[in-house]
Formats: sequence, structure tokens, C-alpha cells
Amino acid sequence: MLVKIVSKNFDIKDSHKIEIAVKNGRYKSLDKIFELKPETLVDEVDKSGLRGKGGGGAPAGGKWKLMQGYEDRQKYLVVNADESEPGTFKDRQIMEYDPHLLIEGMIDTCYAIKATKAYIYIRGEYAFWHKRLNEAIDEAYKKGFLGKNIKGSDFSLDITVHRGAGAYICGEKSALLESLEGKRGHPRLKPHQKEPEWYFGEPTLVNNVETIASIPFIINEGFEAYRSYGTERSPGTMLFGMSGHVNNPGIYEAPYGTSMIEYIQKIGGGIPEGKKIKAIIPGGSSCTILRGDEIDDVTLDYESLKEHGSTLGTGGMIVMDEDVFIPDITKNLLEFYHHESCGQCTPCREGVGWSDRLLQKILSGNGTKKDIDTILDVADLMNGKTVCVFAPAVSAVLISHIKKFPDEFYSLVK
Ligand SMILES: Cc1cc2nc3c(=O)[nH]c(=O)nc-3n(C[C@H](O)[C@H](O)[C@H](O)COP(=O)(O)O)c2cc1C
Repeated sequence: MLVKIVSKNFDIKDSHKIEIAVKNGRYKSLDKIFELKPETLVDEVDKSGLRGKGGGGAPAGGKWKLMQGYEDRQKYLVVNADESEPGTFKDRQIMEYDPHLLIEGMIDTCYAIKATKAYIYIRGEYAFWHKRLNEAIDEAYKKGFLGKNIKGSDFSLDITVHRGAGAYICGEKSALLESLEGKRGHPRLKPHQKEPEWYFGEPTLVNNVETIASIPFIINEGFEAYRSYGTERSPGTMLFGMSGHVNNPGIYEAPYGTSMIEYIQKIGGGIPEGKKIKAIIPGGSSCTILRGDEIDDVTLDYESLKEHGSTLGTGGMIVMDEDVFIPDITKNLLEFYHHESCGQCTPCREGVGWSDRLLQKILSGNGTKKDIDTILDVADLMNGKTVCVFAPAVSAVLISHIKKFPDEFYSLVK
């Protein structure tokens, strides 16, 4: 059930040090890429079917292709290491145990898209991982894997790590780029046609840490090897996380298509004291909730979660046992979203706070049925009227909690 592609070196002692990393296969793909045309690498990634692992699951190949052309421009790669979604703690494992895998993936990617400057945007609270990345980057420069004429090739690359200031919204790729440009982290309007992102007006690719860390395997082993795992439409593997009421919480790599319940029972060791699963948030807190009786045939891939009315998100499952009172969970999440709404769009700024205040009123015993109706109305108004998907996600979360566990909410009101 478990596979080790991205997590292959996690258990090796001192795997973050360059000597150990190189001994265990890191930077091997550099011997291959400089023999190939950049376009060939883009095709290889496209054929692998690799999907972005930052939450949306967009095919990486399609995004890389948008970077083609613009030959006379400075191009950038920005790696999204913001990882602030509650329930999500996978990228930091890569940065802690195998930072050289990420750096190697960045070199491969930059060569393929012809970018000579790259950034890692890391969440402000990740002080340890920020230091670890910088140490690994220094080692890579000393070995000649970064900087001018990498391994004697014509290709040069510089990587800079940028620390965020603790704003969840800066994980949204366009807010991230605004922040990286030194501005307030407000998401940008999306263009009608597909195009790359823009950093200081230049074409830019934004990918998640785990997406980029998957690249060396695809280059070393070929796209078919990657596709041999997972499903037709969700090929490969993902670092799936489990937190909450499981005996063995943590991050484990498994192929897409793995049964959710088997993963929780076999890898997660089941629920403490043999209790029942009441609910699961499948992939970080922005995914709609599933009841325990809805997950029997759910598999861990984009299509199955969609069929079951939720999303795979970041693959970080939050497991809740039968003793959990769902309105408490909803309130906990709403406080987070209330705090983190960037305030740019009125439906989000006002709507999230309003719902949070109403929930507080309901939980303190002063609420009415009408307050629940108002929350549902406000949630409806937050959907589809904002620059980014923060508010629509909060809206869907709220509606799913109330509609899937109505008795618990109505038990609180007069
Ligand atoms: C509110 C919000 C927060 C996000 N936070 C993250 C994050 O912390 N890390 C991440 O990789 N993607 C995050 N995303 C998704 C990014 O916008 C973007 O889709 C992703 O970085 C693209 O990389 P990928 O295609 O490799 O997944 C977030 C999106 C939203 C709307």
C-alpha cells in the first residue's frame, strides 16, 4: 500500500546533508537533463500526468507549457512552501528530510522552462525549515549544483528563500507573488485565457514543494514508471497525511487510488479505543466534510473525492471520532478563516466574520433557528463573488457542516 518515491530518503540518517543525499541518488537527474532539450523535459512531465500537490491538482505539464515562448524574457520559478492549510504538514517533511530533492527538482524544472532565477516562498512560522533549506542551498552552491554553469553546462541558476510573514492567504499563488514583490498579499484577478503567472511582469511558474520534488523521479525513471502508480487520471503518488483521532498520525506516501478507509485502518492504525469514525475532512480544512458512513468506497484521488462531493485538496486528512461535536469543529475553523481573510473582497471580509459571530452566539446558547438560516444565506452570498477561492471554500465548508450534521446545530438553538 505504501510507496516511496518522494519519501524514499526520509528514513536515512542525515539525509539532509549533501554527501548523504548524493550517495542516495540526489542530483542524479542532472546527468540526464543537460543531454536533453528543455522541450523534451516538458513533454516528459506532461506525459507523466503529474498533478499539482498544493491543493488544486492542476496538471503540471499544462502549466509548464504556458512558460514556453517568451524566449527573450527573464523567467522565474516560484516554489510554494507556504503550507498554512490546517491539517497539512507534508511539504515540511520534504524540506526537513530531503531538501536536496527539492533543490534537484527545481534545477530540473528551471532548465525545462528556461528560468534562471528561482524562489522558495516559505511560511514565516517555518523558521527551522527556512534555516535547513538555506543550509542545503549553500551546500549545493559549494558543490557546483547551483550558480553559474551548473556541472559545466551552459545553464545557470540562483535560488533565494523568502520567508512570509504569517498570512495564510499568501499561499494563494497570486497573493504569494504580490507578497514576493513587496506588496500586501492580496490575490490578483484571474485572466480569461490561460497564461503563466507574472512576477514583476515576467513569466513565472508557481508549483508546490511536493510537485517539484516529484520531478527527479520522472526524469530518472521515465513518465511510464510514474504512471505505473495511481489511477489513469490521477497518476503517481502523494504524501497523504493523517491527523486527529488515529493511532498513528503522520505523513505516508501512497499511490492515488488507495482506499481511504483501508489507509486509515491499516496505515493509520485505526481509531483510538476502537471508536467509530464520525467525520473526515479529506485534504486540509478547506475541503467539505464527509460523514463516517459516506467513506466506504472513497479512494484517495481527485475523481473519487469529487464524486463524493468533496475534494482531495492537499491530501491531509483530519479524522474525527464519534465523540466529536461538529459545531465545535466548525467554530474552530471559522475563527481561523475569520482571522485569515485578507479583507480585499467585501463578501469574504464581512461574511466570514458574520458567520463566526453567529456561530459564537449559537454555541453560547443564545442562538435561534433563524441564525442558522442566516449563516446558510451568508455562505451562499460568499460563493462566486470574490477574487480568489478563499470565500467559496469557507462557504462550502460551512454549508457541508450544517447540512451533514443538522441535528447537532439545531440542538443548540431555540
Ligand atoms: C487560500 C489559499 C491558500 C493556498 N495555500 C497554498 C499553500 O500553502 N501551498 C501551496 O502549494 N498551494 C496553496 N494554494 C494553491 C496555490 O494557489 C497554487 O494553486 C499552487 O501553489 C500551485 O501549485 P501546484 O500546481 O503544484 O499545486 C492555496 C490556494 C488558496 C486559494
